[in-house]
Amino acid sequence: MRMRKKPNMPRRIEKCGGIYIGNPEDYHGKWLETFPEYKELQLEIGCGRGRFTAETALTMPETLLVAIERVREAMIIGMERAAREGIPNIRFIDTDAAMLRFIFASGEVGRIYLNFCDPWPSNGHRKRRLTHEGFLDIYKDILRADGEIHFKTDNDGLFDYSLGQFLKCGFELEDVTRDLHGGGMVGIMTDYEMKFHEQGVSINRCVARIKT
Ligand SMILES: C[S@@+](CC[C@H](N)C(=O)[O-])C[C@H]1O[C@@H](n2cnc3c(N)ncnc32)[C@H](O)[C@@H]1O
Repeated sequence: MRMRKKPNMPRRIEKCGGIYIGNPEDYHGKWLETFPEYKELQLEIGCGRGRFTAETALTMPETLLVAIERVREAMIIGMERAAREGIPNIRFIDTDAAMLRFIFASGEVGRIYLNFCDPWPSNGHRKRRLTHEGFLDIYKDILRADGEIHFKTDNDGLFDYSLGQFLKCGFELEDVTRDLHGGGMVGIMTDYEMKFHEQGVSINRCVARIKT
């Protein structure tokens, strides 16, 4: 996501208060101990402007939803919305998904949402895809034994590639669809999803669960 640098970023982040976690490594292995009011920890990777983050958190008040985004200029929009609406069960971290093992201990996360990640179509860039096996190994490590990844994309090529990567890395697939909204709108839409849906682009979705 390319965005113009926004001025006053430190001040805007500060105004969001405890929603922003600037020292996420300190919570490693201790997320639910630190926030005992929640029963479950879930993670959204590449949350962008955080529309899905806010709306999903509102549907599950007993779950802490941590959103990761490496572009602060996008993330601040979701943070300011969560602060404005007083949504208690969201935290934001500005980092790269490659850092997740330093932030979450093995088996600490119940579910990961991966929505409309960049397709990186060139084969030379495949390691940057957030469903490349290098990333899937990290997700598998931080997920609980019964953990799952909810994956959505508009990109058919990325979807085919990702299904193969999930199987290769020891996940089994459920609820695989190539036209999620074909029979009417389903679930909470992300910002990108709204845009693609309005253009008539079909949305691919699957749930990848660690094989037991
Ligand atoms: C195409 S946008 C989709 C945003 C949002 N999920 C949505 O569906 O509206 C992909 C987002 O993933 C973020 N992203 C890409 N690679 C990332 C990485 N390695 N770590 C963290 N965020 C990443 C980008 O900065 C961007 O905001």
